[in-house]
Formats: sequence, structure tokens, C-alpha cells
Amino acid sequence: MKKYIWKKEYGIGVKLIDEQHRQFFKIANDLLDLLGKKTINRKRISAIAFTLGDYTFYHLKTEEDYLIKFGLDNKAKSHILSHKAFRKKVEGFLAKIENKNSNIELVAKDMVDFTVDWIQNHLLTADKKYTKLLLDKGVKASELATNPSLSAIRGKPRRVRKEAATSA
Ligand SMILES: [Fe+2]
Ligand SMILES: [Fe+2]
Repeated sequence: MKKYIWKKEYGIGVKLIDEQHRQFFKIANDLLDLLGKKTINRKRISAIAFTLGDYTFYHLKTEEDYLIKFGLDNKAKSHILSHKAFRKKVEGFLAKIENKNSNIELVAKDMVDFTVDWIQNHLLTADKKYTKLLLDKGVKASELATNPSLSAIRGKPRRVRKEAATSA
């Protein structure tokens, strides 16, 4: 499967969110790498899947905070609803990954397919549509705070997921 390479035009123009979107490309590529190997490393696949899960919750919350902060209109509300469905799906994948009886290769493949579809149909389309909404309401790309790196959330998966879920 082809690798995902970030291009400037994929950006929505909000630095913090673009930096986070780039991380999804990296995580999807890491999973694709592992699935391309002859032997399946259950431990590594599981670790990357949980990183994807954590980053998903963390990122969706970032977007929602912006949409809430800068005024919710109906488009923003339906955007947040689509996140809800995504969270549910990711939780389902993670539950399967944790189940020792599951076929981890199959689950990981489903997760990659789902992520790739999400990159194309949400990140590169739906997310781009709210750029104007945010910029019109006063968000400046330069105003945005630094993005906690992916490594900052590693090692604290449960906490990050729980925080995101309880504030959703
Ligand atoms: Fe996004
Ligand atoms: Fe989004």
C-alpha cells in the first residue's frame, strides 16, 4: 500500500491542527510498515494502535475546543457529531486489539483502512471546510500555541483517552 506523504496543500491553515494532522499520516504509515512485514509483531501493532487511539481523542478534542471557542453554527455541530461516530469506531478497534483472542493482523488492517478513509474523507475534506469558519471568527494561525508532540502523550494512553472522553 502506498505511503502517505504530507503536502502543504493538505493544511487547513491552522498551525496546531495541521501539525496534529501530520501525525496521523505518520501513524498510518507506521501501521502500514508493520503490516507489510512477514511476521506480525503483536506487541508493536498494539502499541501503534493505542497511539493512534490516543492521538485521535486528543486531536478531536483540540478541533472541538476551537469550534466551541469560536462559535458553534450548525456546520460545526454536525462536524462534532461526525467526531463522535469516529470515537466510537476507534474504541471498538482498541477493544478488539486488547482481546488476546482476536486476529490482530485483521483488526490492524481494518484500522488502517478506516484511518486511510478518514484521512481522505474527513481530514482532507471535512476539516478543510471549517478553516474559513475559524479564520473568519478570529483564529490566527500564528496565535496558536505549541503542539505537544506525539511523544508527550506516549506512556499515558489511558489518561489521555479518559480525559478526552469525559470532556466530549
Ligand atoms: Fe482533524
Ligand atoms: Fe474534524
